[in-house]
Amino acid sequence: METVVSGIRSTGNLHLGNYFGAIQNFIKLQNTHHCFFFIADYHSLTTHPNPVDLHKNVREVLIEYLAVGLDPEKATLFVQSDLPELTELYLFLNMNAYLGELQRSASFKDKVRSQPDNVNAGLLTYPALMAADILIHKGTHVPVGKDQEQHLEMARNFAGRFNRMYQVDYFPEPHAFNFGSSLVKVPGLDGKGKMSKSEGEGNAIFLKDSPEIIRKKIMKAVSDSGPSIPNQKKSPAAKNLFDLLSLCTDPKTIKFFDQEHKNGTIRYGDLKKQLAEDLINFLKPIQEKIKEFSENPVFVREVARLGAAKARISAQKTIREVREIIGFKPF
Ligand code: TRP
Repeated sequence: METVVSGIRSTGNLHLGNYFGAIQNFIKLQNTHHCFFFIADYHSLTTHPNPVDLHKNVREVLIEYLAVGLDPEKATLFVQSDLPELTELYLFLNMNAYLGELQRSASFKDKVRSQPDNVNAGLLTYPALMAADILIHKGTHVPVGKDQEQHLEMARNFAGRFNRMYQVDYFPEPHAFNFGSSLVKVPGLDGKGKMSKSEGEGNAIFLKDSPEIIRKKIMKAVSDSGPSIPNQKKSPAAKNLFDLLSLCTDPKTIKFFDQEHKNGTIRYGDLKKQLAEDLINFLKPIQEKIKEFSENPVFVREVARLGAAKARISAQKTIREVREIIGFKPF
């Protein structure tokens, strides 16, 4: 069976962008592949969370993973920091990750620009840690969004370089992997880019948002002043609203609003009301599960424990073999 590895950083709660852009794929993959899904809390340290927030975030994301239907019996669900073997592989990979290539990574350059006061070495070597995440399980299929392509390319370079350096065929090449066209780009509510927590609370709908908050956010979502002539091409903001509508609204209703737009008679207020109610209904069962799991810490602890135990089996095997390849020998 092919090995799938993917992680989500625990820097905030899951939102619709995470759900439709990634997790929906995870839920399908867990039935057909050997899957490792984890919460990337080591990676979250680049933003220096305080200890209380760090743990709370990990816990909430784990509960949200479970609430959307990731199944700890099918996939290996674990917390990255429960896998100390990762730090060792990270160290090994860092030894042949070059400063130039790390500095050329687009995500690093973005961070240098956006947080000039905190350009730490962890940010620079982020791609080596991400490669370790994947290679520790010999992952080949990595379901991630477009923004992670470059990191994956670096993971392939590190894997290939290790193999060449030690003249082994040890690490397989990991590739980005998606269910073809089923990868959905979820726009943010600001009418610009994709839904993202880094663009501020109001840009994303979180899985745990209450109906009131969802209504408020959607009503504030950026639209335009409406088509001025029939059959006018949709503005980017209007297209975003329709893209959001396509997530959970039934096709007949979408068609209705589409026709209204073509006629030039659309009222975005009506569309937004519909959109908000459909999202609220979609999230209702997920929120019930979130509540259920939040009230069951024993189960959550058991999930984390089981996940760590399963993940450590392949991690320990990899570290043992890698140490041998590198030339570490017991006396
Ligand atoms: N860098 C990824 C992101 O920001 C998260 C991540 C960390 C990841 N390690 C990974 C994704 C390994 C896939 C595989 O979204």
